[in-house]
Amino acid sequence: MFHQRLLAVFTLLATFSVALTSSIRLSADDVPGVVTNNASLMRIAFGSCCKQDQPQPIWDAIVETSPEVFLFIGDNIYGDTNDMDILKAKWQQLAENPGYQKLKAACPILATWDDHDYGQNDAGEEYPMKVQSQQVFLDFFDEPSDSPRRSRPGVYGAYEFGPPGRRVQVLLLDTRYFRSPLVKYDEQHEPGEGMRGPYGRFLDPQATILGEAQWAWLAKKLREPAEVRIIASSIQVVADGHSWEKWGNMPLERQRMFEVIRDAKANGVIFLSGDRHSAEISVCDPGVGYPLLDITSSSLNRPSEWHTELNQHRVGAKYFEENFGMITIDWTADDPVLRCQVRDITGQVVLQHRTRLSELRP
Ligand SMILES: [Fe+2]
Repeated sequence: MFHQRLLAVFTLLATFSVALTSSIRLSADDVPGVVTNNASLMRIAFGSCCKQDQPQPIWDAIVETSPEVFLFIGDNIYGDTNDMDILKAKWQQLAENPGYQKLKAACPILATWDDHDYGQNDAGEEYPMKVQSQQVFLDFFDEPSDSPRRSRPGVYGAYEFGPPGRRVQVLLLDTRYFRSPLVKYDEQHEPGEGMRGPYGRFLDPQATILGEAQWAWLAKKLREPAEVRIIASSIQVVADGHSWEKWGNMPLERQRMFEVIRDAKANGVIFLSGDRHSAEISVCDPGVGYPLLDITSSSLNRPSEWHTELNQHRVGAKYFEENFGMITIDWTADDPVLRCQVRDITGQVVLQHRTRLSELRP
């Protein structure tokens, strides 16, 4: 009996140690905020737009998909304040949500921000508390004290997973800290289209979304070897038909993004975006040598009903209820298969676009 118990304890310890060594290892690197991991990433979940004082039942469905990493890509709370004590209290509300706690225990969470968790609706470089808010944000997501994400302006960061042949690069953009003011414009909407949004196209060559330092960083990162590159932008990159916030508010910056990808000969790029309180998958062919996908997932717990929005780049339908995003990668196929998904509050796939790795090469 004693031997059986001893065997059971040893089995438990062995299982635990295997689980530990195969879990994702967070480590410092000369590159800011790098996560290195010898295992291949196969399940990447993501989401945006979480109202911290409302119920968040969707966390359970996300945890059930057993993600290896969760990308929290903006409007992670609705802070909307210049008072850092209020901002911290709102982050704390998220921290205390039992579902979020389960996710935090289940996998690493990598985050960037959008306007509301940055601190102000639709804000850019002019937000007066951006320096302080950056540290509050990085504190919340347990950014190491010596991380360059703490010592440089903006929360952008790069992460790498997997061995050669199965490398996944995650690039989190900061579309707020440096962004020039938007221009307001009442664009004519299509009959029956409903609300279209307040922002026009700003063609000033000085206008920026990323700022020069972040552009230089991105160009460098895109030249590093990887098989898949997930670029998380809080706002939509490809969808361009509406007049809410999007990269298309500054068409020259949107074009620059495509040129930076093209010039770097960067294979494997897939954009993730949020912000919109609806989900859709968009694709365009802007001359980088392969189609660029933008998987928009929003909101985790604040759905909307703007059913009539036009998007010439949309593939399939648009989804309006609570949702999260998922990219699964089947590395076992000769030509690995990527499934870009939007899932509903129960974890069911409601939108999906399948692509092969060979289709994401110039
Ligand atoms: Fe937003």
